[in-house]
Amino acid sequence: MESLGVSKPRILVTSKHPGDAIDALSNQVALDVHCSFEPMNHHELCEHLKECDGVICVLADHITEYVMSLCPRLKMIANVAVGYDNIDIEAATKYGILVTNTPGVLDETTADLAFGLLLACARRIAEGDRFIRQDKWNSWRCDLMLGVDVFGKTLGIVGYGRIGQAMARRAQGFAMQVLYCRSQPPSSSELETTSHPRHVSLDELLESSDFISIHCPLNKHTHHLIGKRELSLVKPESILINTSRGAVVDETALVEALKKGRLRGVALDVFEQEPCVPVELKTMDGVVLTPHIGSASVETRSAMARLAVDALMCAFAGQMPPHVVNQETWRSFAERSRGCLITNQ
Ligand code: GLV
Repeated sequence: MESLGVSKPRILVTSKHPGDAIDALSNQVALDVHCSFEPMNHHELCEHLKECDGVICVLADHITEYVMSLCPRLKMIANVAVGYDNIDIEAATKYGILVTNTPGVLDETTADLAFGLLLACARRIAEGDRFIRQDKWNSWRCDLMLGVDVFGKTLGIVGYGRIGQAMARRAQGFAMQVLYCRSQPPSSSELETTSHPRHVSLDELLESSDFISIHCPLNKHTHHLIGKRELSLVKPESILINTSRGAVVDETALVEALKKGRLRGVALDVFEQEPCVPVELKTMDGVVLTPHIGSASVETRSAMARLAVDALMCAFAGQMPPHVVNQETWRSFAERSRGCLITNQ
């Protein structure tokens, strides 16, 4: 029952999600659910969002300043992703729109994929699979699909947050030396979880690593962090893995470096203009490609949806949720959502 002067918030859910997290919302809010795993197109998104107080969105939804300007009723964006480069945070803050993300629950799953890509590239697993399917295998040979060893090699981790550290833990099982770089040095508790990773500059990491795995967020400081100059520093036998965001690497420079044999291979889960992948990458053998599936396990995607739902319920019940990206917006959000609350949580 609605109390006098207080109405239930109207919430758009832009995609279906694995698990049953969204069901928990149905009694608490007025729901507008896009019943498909296909992303909404831009026009549909704007039309539905105009009528809503909050949105549970995914990284295929680009919530720009323009979109926000069309949606004066919008008060909260719960992004089902740890990265939030699909949302203009500055504009959200200007409009008093609270933004949350879903860190923590996807670290191990994403590191699993990054390490899987490392192995696939080093040992030519995807290439071997294609080779058999194309009926090219006609005899065992000593030189067939020679790859490189992983154990005992040096792994350089660019961006040493939760996912980077989960990657380091996997590397220990392969007796690898771990180098890392990131903007802030790690705290002592972070250091306790991994044994002897060494903090170095980005240039030293690029020059010394056999495998380079990228785990930093995309922002104005990390856009094209790995460009032509950086790719000129890597060892010619090195392998680059990117499971963070495509635009951290300058894709044009990467293609050029591969063509010139500047590195042995790359394994990419993320691209600059998803879902477009440069044709050169699709046709080179030392390249392993996956379609942005770092967090794509049933368990993790369900947990991410649950976190977004919890954040939304918490905020519309008047409490600041744990993973707010623009905390300075909280007061303005609280003001704006006064007449629009979840009252029976
Ligand atoms: C996935 O890419 C995420 O940011 O959660």
